Amino acid sequence: MLTVAVLISGGGSNLRALLDAAADPDFPARVVVVGADREADGFRHAEDYGIPTFMVPFEQFPSREEWGEQLGEQLEVWNPDLIVLSGLMRLLPPSLVDAWSPRVINTHPAYLPEFPGAHGVRDALAAGVDQTGASVIVVDRGVDTGPILAQERVPVLPGDDEHTLHERIKPVERRLLIDVVRRIATGELDLAAAAAAV
Ligand code: GAR
Repeated sequence: MLTVAVLISGGGSNLRALLDAAADPDFPARVVVVGADREADGFRHAEDYGIPTFMVPFEQFPSREEWGEQLGEQLEVWNPDLIVLSGLMRLLPPSLVDAWSPRVINTHPAYLPEFPGAHGVRDALAAGVDQTGASVIVVDRGVDTGPILAQERVPVLPGDDEHTLHERIKPVERRLLIDVVRRIATGELDLAAAAAAV
């Protein structure tokens, strides 16, 4: 059984989908802990499932490195097989990425390498494209530059705003994330090989 830590910053709808999927006894992964960089609304999903949570508030640390050290200590307590960044709106410091690589994956609401960063949906709208997408990647030291594990196109429709477009992307993200976690858990997807292939 693959053990998973999920890190969030917000509402955690992707986390919820993963928790719901993992509630199926046939699903080969279990979320063992949920962490956040702030008091995230998404903690309630973990609480619904009786899964422990921890918070390492970014603002309370003098540097990203020191925040990352504390985050790393928390993660080591749970020692998960996989870390899923699911709406964590912070860059991990390189030392933390290096310590866990390639066992850290991230969901992103765009068709990478298009529109990386914190505003993938807004940037796609601003660019006037007629399609964007969702991606699941291995986290490396860059901003959404890691090896792509899964991605799918999502149309941008006339009249879309950031909310409507993001709400169209999120169900695709959820499906991709659950499938990637399942494939990692079964061994169908080898993260080390995926990371080395780039
Ligand atoms: C998701 O769309 C995720 O891809 C995005 O934040 C949203 C979180 O939604 N992450 C990023 O943009 C990271 N660059 P959720 O909290 O409802 O799961």
